[in-house]
Amino acid sequence: MTAPIVRRLAELRALTARWRAEGARIGVVPTMGALHAGHLSLVEAAKAGADRVIVTIFVNPRQFNNPDDLANYPRTEGSDAAKLAPFAVDAIYVPAPDQVYPEGFATTVSVSGVSEGLCGAHRPGHFDGVATVVTKLLLQTQADRAYFGEKDFQQLMVVRRLVRDLGIPVEIVGCPTVREPDGLALSSRNVRLGHTARAKAPALFAALTRAVKEMSEGAPVGQALGEARAAVLAGGYSDVEYLEFRSAATLAPLQALSEPARLLVAAHLDGVRLIDNVPAVPQRAAAFAPS
Ligand code: PAF
Repeated sequence: MTAPIVRRLAELRALTARWRAEGARIGVVPTMGALHAGHLSLVEAAKAGADRVIVTIFVNPRQFNNPDDLANYPRTEGSDAAKLAPFAVDAIYVPAPDQVYPEGFATTVSVSGVSEGLCGAHRPGHFDGVATVVTKLLLQTQADRAYFGEKDFQQLMVVRRLVRDLGIPVEIVGCPTVREPDGLALSSRNVRLGHTARAKAPALFAALTRAVKEMSEGAPVGQALGEARAAVLAGGYSDVEYLEFRSAATLAPLQALSEPARLLVAAHLDGVRLIDNVPAVPQRAAAFAPS
């Protein structure tokens, strides 16, 4: 059964007030639509972790630093609703723009630290836009839990930080990246890859996993990063925007695999910007070895 589509905040508030009165825990999956299996894995997690589930679909103009990107962003509400039907979510919130940004809207939520560098350095204003809309969606849905993919790892860190700093009473649940069988991380942008580029795309994940394996076997971080960068370019990517090894807890740059870490990348293939990241965990023996 297709879930009710809610377009107005007042209508959403009436639903959430009723659910709260019933003692239900509310889960939210914020999206910009163009749903794929990665989004649906978040919906599955929300169904398991909450009594009522809201999926939001809102193409947020404030997080696009490139007007063409915003104009070309796929808007596929009908097929998104059809994809959600088997999950029996309780509401699909597709707010009209003025429900999120009413006339005269003058507030920006800006998270320093974790939003700097990586994607933040290459997409000015992007994380301010994300932080502002996520804050609004969390407040509007009154969710107890909100589900985000680890594919956008820096975004997940920004959201965790803003929730802590602003004291929003919601638990942020990070969910693992969903991949194609050949390792390519699912993304709404993958459909823009031509046939030849699609065949080359898994080189990104392959380079990341090889580098993490080398580092966990003791290779110096600088060497592993250099080899990974070369492998991405040799695999057919036109450039590597960033390839960085960072703390999984703080996103601070790391020179060694001394704590749980992430290797994060953004690179261009066939004119399409792809991002990915993989975890790296210090081996027990290495962590406890006498110095
Ligand atoms: O990851 C996304 O799809 C968006 O950045 C989000 C979290 C829905 C905010 O617009």
